[in-house]
Amino acid sequence: MKRLIWLESTASTNDVAKELVRAGKKDVIVAAGQQTAGRGRQGRSFYSPPNMGIYLSMALPYDGKRSLPPTVIAGAAAASVLSTACGRQIGCKWVNDLLLDGYKIGGILSELCQDRVIVGIGVNVNQTQEDIPPELSHVSSLAARCGRMFRVEALRYALIREMDIRWQPEMDEETFAYYRKHLLTLGQRVKVMGTGSERWGTAVGLAKDSALLVCFDDTSAVERVIGPEVSIRGPHGYL
Ligand code: BTN
Repeated sequence: MKRLIWLESTASTNDVAKELVRAGKKDVIVAAGQQTAGRGRQGRSFYSPPNMGIYLSMALPYDGKRSLPPTVIAGAAAASVLSTACGRQIGCKWVNDLLLDGYKIGGILSELCQDRVIVGIGVNVNQTQEDIPPELSHVSSLAARCGRMFRVEALRYALIREMDIRWQPEMDEETFAYYRKHLLTLGQRVKVMGTGSERWGTAVGLAKDSALLVCFDDTSAVERVIGPEVSIRGPHGYL
């Protein structure tokens, strides 16, 4: 039985979920109206102003053996729920970003904690473009792109339901196919940034374990790109 915990404001729902798991309360879902220190991948921050977005962390049973990474499952879940809500197709940027009109409108941060994975999902829902700090020029919201407001609570509920469905292993094949179909990175020129290195290439495929297959300019060989320290950029900066 999952316990849903609602917080008006917290530093990071992922951190609260981790504390609860460590305290033995394993099956929790933590949602907040605002995060004061929302986190993204690779130590980046996730801007989380009050009552305008979804800030949600689900602690899910995970033994690390599943071939489909939790981030990909959450990416497919979020993209399908948000696409249904707004009537436009939300795309994924490998590996954890949600895009609309080429803008980042959300992201996923998955972190291991004991026998759970904390899947953190952040979505910019009702911010106007002016609400978003100007230095985040690649960021937007569902409302800013669609020209109308959305019910954050209903979207959050739909997202929890969709994650529950897609967390069943028998959904993996469909989820992988959905994620690959909506992976905007495929076919694009990409800069792969690892620990201290930067290489250009073209994203040519997605492996079953969700490694990005990149044909690198310097070797003309296709290599697997995967891991928490890797991120990619496109020819226009972030995208
Ligand atoms: C990213 O953009 O790299 C991922 C962003 C993930 C943000 C969500 S919001 C809920 C959860 N709590 C956090 O501190 N981060 C995730």
